[in-house]
Amino acid sequence: MRIGVLTGGGDCPGLNAVIRAVVRDGIDEFGDQLLGFRDGWRGVIENSYMDLDVEATRGILPRGGTILGSSRTNPYKRDGGVARVRETLAALQVDGLIAIGGEDTLGVANKLHEDGAKVIGVPKTIDNDLSATDVTFGFDTALQIATEAIDRLHTTAESHHRILVVEVMGRHAGWIALHAGVAGGADVILIPEIPFDIDEVCRRIEHRHDRGRPFSIVVAAEGATPKKGTMEVLTGAVDEFGHPRLGGIGTRLEQEIENRTGYETRATVLGHVQRGGTPTAFDRVLATRLGLAAIRAAHSGAWGMMTSLRGNEIKLVPLADAVAEVRQVPREEYERHGVLFG
Ligand code: F6P
Repeated sequence: MRIGVLTGGGDCPGLNAVIRAVVRDGIDEFGDQLLGFRDGWRGVIENSYMDLDVEATRGILPRGGTILGSSRTNPYKRDGGVARVRETLAALQVDGLIAIGGEDTLGVANKLHEDGAKVIGVPKTIDNDLSATDVTFGFDTALQIATEAIDRLHTTAESHHRILVVEVMGRHAGWIALHAGVAGGADVILIPEIPFDIDEVCRRIEHRHDRGRPFSIVVAAEGATPKKGTMEVLTGAVDEFGHPRLGGIGTRLEQEIENRTGYETRATVLGHVQRGGTPTAFDRVLATRLGLAAIRAAHSGAWGMMTSLRGNEIKLVPLADAVAEVRQVPREEYERHGVLFG
């Protein structure tokens, strides 16, 4: 078969491990020809690709990012975008596509499948917010990075008797904030799913001071929002998928906490550090398993499906189920950990 591969959306550690697994298994087991489209859907629209052979994938397993490049291009938002995707696939005689992405890239994959294209999805994102899979690769690495940052901030917060706010990624889901906050022993964790009360945040910090703990760690997901009318926040520009650029809540919290409590407060925004660098062993193995399952799914004609982790098994699930809704942190899960904060 001639199989196209692309990586779309925000990059994450483990993408290269999927590409490597798809290419090696495709060539060794099935004698496939593999084409790597550059920069996500943009490469398919613009007929920009590279040949993928074993040589092209040598040494990429521990490398972060993606050798194919990525972008947030949406063919459904570009004039004639979908028609050009079809033309490229026909011109290159591509039998099917393996799209590695999060809700946006896989949302496009699902629509194209409904419109008759042969696509298989592989779930990735540091945000861990895709339905129909227990976990996405990239999350574990981001979590390790955020946890290590919190550990480091803890020691300096304690030395200087400061309140340190750590802003982490995750878009509209609080998985990174909750898990890194729990793993790092944060005192306050703010997630997008549950609007926070700034008075309550300050009360917690003051309570710690009263108990002889004159420092605190506040972990805020970039999508965390205050309860209506309690605190002003900024909003950013919107991308082709309609998502606003997030970020800034950490700095707002820094100002607000310092003004309200009088304690010196500083914010650290972890940003793209969470997406870069080498994948953890967990992410490498998961990405490899998902890649192997994807190429096999292509050969069994399971178009419109996504490879997913269910328990400890790799299963195929409909792409439509994966993109039907964002998987957010359930309130009970957040509250269960609440006893540990402070
Ligand atoms: O989806 C991954 C992610 O890193 C989100 O956590 C974040 O909101 C977004 O991508 C940032 O995107 P960009 O790198 O395009 O600014």
